[in-house]
Amino acid sequence: MAFPQSVRLVEVGPRDGLQNEPEPIGTATKLELIDRLGAAGIRHIEAASFVSPKWVPQMADHREVMTGLTRRPGVTYSALTPNLKGLEAALECGVEEVAVFGAASETFSQKNINCSIAESLQRFEPVLERAKEANVRVRGYVSCVLGCPYEGEIAPAKVAEVSKALFEMGCYEVSLGDTIGTGTPLKAKRMIEAVSRDIPMEKLAAHFHDTYGQALVNLYAVLEEGIAVIDNSVAGLGGCPYAKGASGNVASEDVVYLLDGLGIETGIDLDKLAGTGTWITQAIGRPNRSKVGVALAAK
Ligand code: HMG
Ligand code: MG
Repeated sequence: MAFPQSVRLVEVGPRDGLQNEPEPIGTATKLELIDRLGAAGIRHIEAASFVSPKWVPQMADHREVMTGLTRRPGVTYSALTPNLKGLEAALECGVEEVAVFGAASETFSQKNINCSIAESLQRFEPVLERAKEANVRVRGYVSCVLGCPYEGEIAPAKVAEVSKALFEMGCYEVSLGDTIGTGTPLKAKRMIEAVSRDIPMEKLAAHFHDTYGQALVNLYAVLEEGIAVIDNSVAGLGGCPYAKGASGNVASEDVVYLLDGLGIETGIDLDKLAGTGTWITQAIGRPNRSKVGVALAAK
């Protein structure tokens, strides 16, 4: 199958990338990160998470971030909202897009959002209804699509079932999360094939963490299947607080380099993006996990 002509990148660094950082990161640093990402040409930035500050302290300044950011025309700034409480707070801050997040693993669902898969879907329904009333788009995440830290292998049919439920509920796009980065290319292809039987390919996104160093090769495999939306995090920042040992998302710089090399358009300025990766890793005292970012910085 032919590769897509262009790919839309969803930058999740300010949310997924920072949510697990143990030391507090100032709101001003988050705002500068979001601004620099926009300046590099990123058109979709997941900026904050309206979750309980007891569960994820790093995202406690969600209101300050969402109201403090300088909106660039043509850029979507989204936020996670696990329930109505989160959605109402996000609406007060003027969000135009939110995301609900479920899982294909029962145990992960319990650990991450404190309820079963069925309960989570029930909880998301009023979120989608209220968002629709407010003219706010909703993205749906499914975690553990290629493995679970508690249950191990996850059946593609289970991923397809949860994805279908989110899509039928009104999520405009379903982002498939390899939360712990254990996937390999053929498994990734099989999972995408199963999910795309019920949901059009253009409504699916790949959200791959790089814990086992497989994210780029898995992305290549799903690009061949027709996936044209990819989630990534600048400098490969991140990890999920409820998936021990999980490292960051695939690095945005590495994805852009790959797509540039394949002749697939992204609209992103790789040098500016790499500069942002160098800056944020220095600002928060973290190693840069983008190979491309490190190579460009050494030039
Ligand atoms: P709960 O304890 O079941 O909820 O948590 P509750 O309704 O019983 O409320 C308990 C307390 O939380 C109350 O406060 C609520 O007010 C408060 P208290 O009375 O104890 O002071 N609360 C909230 N506060 C702020 N914002 C809210 C909110 N809701 C309740 N929205 C809940 C349920 C979902 C809230 C909780 O489990 C939670 O916050 N979990 C966070 C999970 C999380 O953020 N995980 C990381 C993001 S997901 C991810 O990284 C995966 C992804 O990247 C894809 C992938 O890689 O696979 C998306
Ligand atoms: Mg994630």
